[in-house]
Amino acid sequence: MIVLGIESSCDETGIALFDTERGLLSHALHSQIAMHQEYGGVVPELASRDHVRRAIPLLTEALEKAQIAKHQIDAIAYTQGPGLAGALLVGASVACGLGMALDKPLIGIHHLEGHLLSPLLASEPPSFPFIALLVSGGHTQLMRVDAVGQYELLGETLDDAAGEAFDKSAKLLGLAYPGGPAISQLASLGDPDVHQFPRPMLHSKDLNFSFSGLKTAVLTAVRKYPNALSEQDKANVARGFVDAIIDVLVAKCQTAMKQTGLKRLVIAGGVGANRQLRASLNAAANAANPKKRFEVFYPELEFCTDNGAMIAFAGAMRLLAYPEQADKNYSFNVRPR
Ligand code: KG4
Ligand code: ZN
Repeated sequence: MIVLGIESSCDETGIALFDTERGLLSHALHSQIAMHQEYGGVVPELASRDHVRRAIPLLTEALEKAQIAKHQIDAIAYTQGPGLAGALLVGASVACGLGMALDKPLIGIHHLEGHLLSPLLASEPPSFPFIALLVSGGHTQLMRVDAVGQYELLGETLDDAAGEAFDKSAKLLGLAYPGGPAISQLASLGDPDVHQFPRPMLHSKDLNFSFSGLKTAVLTAVRKYPNALSEQDKANVARGFVDAIIDVLVAKCQTAMKQTGLKRLVIAGGVGANRQLRASLNAAANAANPKKRFEVFYPELEFCTDNGAMIAFAGAMRLLAYPEQADKNYSFNVRPR
């Protein structure tokens, strides 16, 4: 079965073809980051219009790369939500039109399920069950994953998402959107002993997170400098922020592993691309005490942030597990929240 995946929930248009026999055949991506950068964040109307412009050329590119014709597609998966309503509507409309024209079924995919399953696209994927840490621009969640479609929410952020905290703190330091990668790079030049920022909810026994206080601590630190911050000052603040947020993310993962007794941890979502996070998690996973050890799995770097491959893959997995979910009514329904 060849499944076409369409992702358009935010500022990336992603199109991919996944074959349940042969694996990922191709994927094509256009990022709108450069377009939104001058506004300091994603402008929804501009995002929708750009998805309209990109969708068909990317589809052509994906088909050419995979060397298949469009009538060979067996089903079409599209991101149903959450995301920007207008942006989601573009992907859903393309899926619907194509589905009707080719007489193929559709399946709407939850964007987070796409992220959650993306590490299974790797050459050595984890087996079920596993714990997943989902850290994106909009969400921070710990989930227990027993099978495709069997997810239990163990904890989540009570306010800002991890990616949002990265982006907002980066903005306070004058870095361009999306600030996650930039603030991390700056942090590597910073002195870890200058700023000790709070580690919100580090010692709460639950698996919830809270990052808005950390962002406020960054703001307070920035305001304490009487003059403009030097590059080194900025790097020191960045270092304090990154050390704090990563300490919390790693500690909560350790608690989740301990509480559930599972031995596999999967990291998904844009913040999963973070090098410091990966280094700290790998160190935690190789704990001196063998009882505390676990394995960590990451998606390929290109599949950490939004992409079509994870939607094609999630669609294929869902259609195999729940064939009744294939929909030929073409009455698509996007769910921004
Ligand atoms: O998963 P994603 O592409 O989109 C959402 O579904 O939100 O995640 C985007 C988020 C942004 O907040 C971005 O700053 C963050 O992931 N991000 C990073 C890194 N790469 C992307 N944060 C920290 N370090 C990175 N290397
Ligand atoms: Zn995402």
